[in-house]
Amino acid sequence: MKLLVTGGAGFMGSSFIRHMLSSHDVSITTIDALTYASDMDSLSSVVGKKNFKFIKGDISERDLVFDIVRDERPDAIVNFAAETHVDNSIKDSSLFLRSNVLGTASLLDAVNRFSIPRFHQISTDEVYGDLPLDSADSFYESSPLRPNNPYSATKASADLLALSYHRTYGTPVTISRSVNNYGPFQNREKLIPMAIDKAMKGERIPVYSKGENIRSWIYVEDHSRAVEKILLSGRIGEIYNISSGYEERNIDVVKYIIRKLGAAESLIEFSPDRPGHDKRYSLDTEKMESELGFKPSLSFHEGLDRTIAWYKEKNSQI
Ligand SMILES: NC(=O)c1ccc[n+]([C@@H]2O[C@H](COP(=O)([O-])OP(=O)(O)OC[C@H]3O[C@@H](n4cnc5c(N)ncnc54)[C@H](O)[C@@H]3O)[C@@H](O)[C@H]2O)c1
Repeated sequence: MKLLVTGGAGFMGSSFIRHMLSSHDVSITTIDALTYASDMDSLSSVVGKKNFKFIKGDISERDLVFDIVRDERPDAIVNFAAETHVDNSIKDSSLFLRSNVLGTASLLDAVNRFSIPRFHQISTDEVYGDLPLDSADSFYESSPLRPNNPYSATKASADLLALSYHRTYGTPVTISRSVNNYGPFQNREKLIPMAIDKAMKGERIPVYSKGENIRSWIYVEDHSRAVEKILLSGRIGEIYNISSGYEERNIDVVKYIIRKLGAAESLIEFSPDRPGHDKRYSLDTEKMESELGFKPSLSFHEGLDRTIAWYKEKNSQI
């Protein structure tokens, strides 16, 4: 199998590439624009392998995307590339529109133009909007899309484009919507690596509002396994929710990290809430379980302990 993976120098794309190259007879080409969020170290274990190729490029540049897809003729394209930080999208949504919406459109057009057998879009639970803190509900794949911030609005737009291409042209798309990922190589702008980094350095740890908002989590390597299952056995035109089912208040995640690192809870600094901040995310995962037999391999705290150990080790090398 020959894969074209976009955003391969990012946190989740690099995990997927490492996973696929270590467990399958595949060749992978990745296109990545190498934005501030990328980290080539995350690909150091695969750079130089005969079956891996890196191309620096922007998926919103249609001519470039068409050239690459024509030359590579992959069996499938997996689109991880995106601007991903909600706070940045609130300051300026333009890059999000370009990479997340126009970028996805140029990939879909290339899939049609060169009859690529499969396009998988990596999406997010944020497209469903949020649930009240006191609710016990979860979102299903059929739940309506109600994104609440510019980032999630661009991701929902990309999902709708992909689904419209499937309906209009028969484009062979699948979509996965995942909860928050965590693990090695995540950019320190995100909650878990930020809290680990600051707790290790004894710096203030900013937490929005009172930290009461609830997120669901999945370890990044489990997410990679889930995407692998969809790619190999998922049905064309279908959406799959990915989650471990584990939910935790942000403040409790931060306190666990602080305790593990022997730091002081007084480092926590509550800041004014993010505008439009989503309260609670929760996904129903019955479809992934019953149709594709997916179950996460790590509990939240096993994954978090591994993640903390990884950042400690990385910090000791600097
Ligand atoms: N991190 C999460 O918890 C989470 C949860 C659900 C879904 N997602 C989705 O998963 C995907 C990957 O997220 P991540 O956390 O690995 O992101 P990331 O920010 O760590 O990495 C994104 C990568 O995409 C690249 N990129 C950005 N714009 C590009 C463009 N126009 N052309 C080519 N490359 C470009 C960046 O250089 C970077 O390497 C995204 O689509 C995101 O919306 C993330």
